[in-house]
Amino acid sequence: MKALMEYTTEQLNEFEAAAQKKYDEFVAQGISLNMARGKPASEQLDIYDNMLNEHFKEIGFKSEDGTDCRNYGILYGIEECRKLFGEILGVDWKNVIACGSSSLNLMFDFIAQGMYKGFAGCEPWVCNKNRKFIAVVPGYDRHFGIAQYFGFELINVPMTDKGPDMDLVEELIKNPDVKGMFCVPKYSNPDGITYSDETVIRLASMKPVAKDFRVIYDNAYIVHDVYEEGDELLNIFDEAKKYGNEDNFVTFTSTSKITYAGAGVSAMAASDRNFKEISDRLTLQIISYDKMNQLRHAYFYKTVDDVKEQMKKHAAILRPKFETVLRILSEELGELGVAKWNEPRGGYFISLDVTTGSAKYVGELCKKAGVTLTGVGATYPYEIDPEDKNIRLAPSCPTVPELEIATEIICLAVKLAACKEIREGK
Ligand SMILES: Cc1ncc(COP(=O)(O)O)c(C=O)c1O
Repeated sequence: MKALMEYTTEQLNEFEAAAQKKYDEFVAQGISLNMARGKPASEQLDIYDNMLNEHFKEIGFKSEDGTDCRNYGILYGIEECRKLFGEILGVDWKNVIACGSSSLNLMFDFIAQGMYKGFAGCEPWVCNKNRKFIAVVPGYDRHFGIAQYFGFELINVPMTDKGPDMDLVEELIKNPDVKGMFCVPKYSNPDGITYSDETVIRLASMKPVAKDFRVIYDNAYIVHDVYEEGDELLNIFDEAKKYGNEDNFVTFTSTSKITYAGAGVSAMAASDRNFKEISDRLTLQIISYDKMNQLRHAYFYKTVDDVKEQMKKHAAILRPKFETVLRILSEELGELGVAKWNEPRGGYFISLDVTTGSAKYVGELCKKAGVTLTGVGATYPYEIDPEDKNIRLAPSCPTVPELEIATEIICLAVKLAACKEIREGK
């Protein structure tokens, strides 16, 4: 296979006609496949039926310290659950709060706290009309949505294969109006990139001019290896402590992609100072989180090793899905020079870059053929991908045969869009 750009006009016409024919055949089939969101498949969720619900008969409703979990109390969550998250996140469990079912909710509330109460004695962010947040792109649409909701101007920082472009981040934090950034440090959404040691150290050693600068360190995929040998991520709090910077970071995670999506347990961990400020808010915000669910989880997972063992079952389900998509991308688009993609070792996504200016068109072609992708542009703030080239693929939910069809359609759409670009450019 040679690069599409090198085809003669005749070869290109022939190639395009063949792709169009196959594409039309798919359209005629009236397919309906969804690769839009990173949802676990039902077969993955089935693993937890009974396991999470049967044990109450065995242990009753009490946590290890004898607390009746059916009742109010214990704002920071039951100790065994905090300890479990402490192990997962690699932090002292006393700095962990085990919460309700959504980490995104915790992030939203944390930013709301910055907005209306402020951090570290600084004036609330709402007072700053020029407030800005760093958006690592491509990134997670819901992160951008939260910052936009609170009126931050989002500044794009490109993702590299080692994490965010740290030269740019270090430049931006000289501006006192820049108040924070979202990071997904392990198996980032959508690139599946794990930050290198150098990136973590540079983040940890940052001295932002804004004293109330906060990194929302979203460790949503911290134990989500798809292969036996997962990526290693340096511990941000251990590194930040070396520079006296642990107040810059608050980390979040949940079991949404460990047990039940949207019905698991979330947690956050923070320095003593941030912990105190968060707990001042929580004391007023909630009496106590769902400890029954925490108890279920802590009973099922005694240690982080139990979690990792269980995640191998997920990997066995997810790996063939990832590999199907990657194989077809490589077979169909390999040498054509019209698309690039990552081969993540974990997480929930594959990020596909197509020829500049054609992602939206690829999305439209896919939709017409019955394949729903994450809204093209959604991986950028304001849904504006300046180069119109990034598409997030979420292979977790469809079955392997469905993924085969969906990926073939995606590849045909990429080919047709590339032919159009080349023809129009010629
Ligand atoms: C990076 C990231 N953070 C957070 C979430 C949502 O987590 P939760 O279900 O705990 O709110 C997702 C879900 O896709 C995600 O990709």
